Amino acid sequence: MVSRKVEQALNAQVAKEAISSQIYLAMASWAEVQGLEGIAAFLYSHSDEERMHTLKLMHYINERGGHAVVPALPKPPAGMKNIMDVFKSILQQEIEVSADINAIVDLCLKEKDYTTHNFMQWYVAEQIEEERLARTLLDKLNLIGNDKAGLYLFDRDLMGGKGQGAKSQ
Ligand code: FEO
Repeated sequence: MVSRKVEQALNAQVAKEAISSQIYLAMASWAEVQGLEGIAAFLYSHSDEERMHTLKLMHYINERGGHAVVPALPKPPAGMKNIMDVFKSILQQEIEVSADINAIVDLCLKEKDYTTHNFMQWYVAEQIEEERLARTLLDKLNLIGNDKAGLYLFDRDLMGGKGQGAKSQ
């Protein structure tokens, strides 16, 4: 059974993961309109991953005697300045999510909820990967700079939707 405090924290995280999914979805749509097919594929796929993160939390809350609540979501930004801006925002978003996850882990220890603490380790590991991926892609974009051929190749590399080896499995 999850405590009321832990249930509330997990439900807040449900909302945050759902917001992440919406942000990635908005970015994907923007990239698709720009003709950046590979980047769009990557972002659509990542939006799905964030939805999976949301659902995983919801199932856990319900299985542990709580009630996962479907949150109202703010409208994500529709326009982006440029592709560098997109990936900077992604890294920032993931850093914030990591801080949220760490705060829940901390709460679990305070509440002596070792079951949820154990469950949250999956998210801790996932966030290391999420931040690493965002940093790797941002580093690549920094190298590319204003080189159009470089951007073409970057976009092509992301065509599979996973960052072509940028994400270790
Ligand atoms: Fe679910 Fe990208 O954090």
